[in-house]
Amino acid sequence: MRALILVGSGDAKSHSLSLGTAIATSLSNRDVTVEVINLVEYGLPLYNREIERNSAHDEATSEFLQKSEEADIIVWVTPNYHNSFSGILKNALDWQHARKFTGKILGLASNGERSPQPLDQLMLVGRSQGYTMIPTRVCTDASDYDDALTIINESIKQRIERFTASLVEYGEAFKGTDTTEKNF
Ligand SMILES: Cc1cc2nc3c(=O)[nH]c(=O)nc-3n(C[C@H](O)[C@H](O)[C@H](O)COP(=O)(O)O)c2cc1C
Repeated sequence: MRALILVGSGDAKSHSLSLGTAIATSLSNRDVTVEVINLVEYGLPLYNREIERNSAHDEATSEFLQKSEEADIIVWVTPNYHNSFSGILKNALDWQHARKFTGKILGLASNGERSPQPLDQLMLVGRSQGYTMIPTRVCTDASDYDDALTIINESIKQRIERFTASLVEYGEAFKGTDTTEKNF
């Protein structure tokens, strides 16, 4: 199985990136091939419908869309920006507008006051894209990390393990399934 982890912090080195990397390590340990995309560094342009209409995507966007199609499992990791998810992540998801991801599994994670608000809002986006979402989520705040941004909270580490176990379990159960009827 393949997983794609999208990290939406505006900081190149962020708690969200560390969280996404910890999730990636745990998925790798479960024999999943994982890629982490740190969106602030990836270089996607602002969403532009004219470009989409003319299929005139630049190389980074084309590659991003290809990776999105190839993954069985997707994880969105966002900081809490204005009680919501970041615009950087939203911009990436807007580029996926022409696609539906039925049969793929989505997991959600966030950093910032352990607030579930960004993830509650991302559930609506995930539904519009046709994903099957796992119920387990991971929400952290700065106190869960040391100064090097390594996760030090044991209960968060355990939650990450439950989260990735569930992603793999759902991934195996739904692989190749057309879930369109179930989701819409
Ligand atoms: C534009 C912006 C908006 C923010 N809004 C909130 C907020 O509404 N509530 C909150 O608790 N923290 C807010 N913060 C603080 C971020 O949640 C915090 O810096 C972030 O989670 C750090 O995560 P990161 O290291 O992954 O970027 C905001 C930060 C920024 C830059």
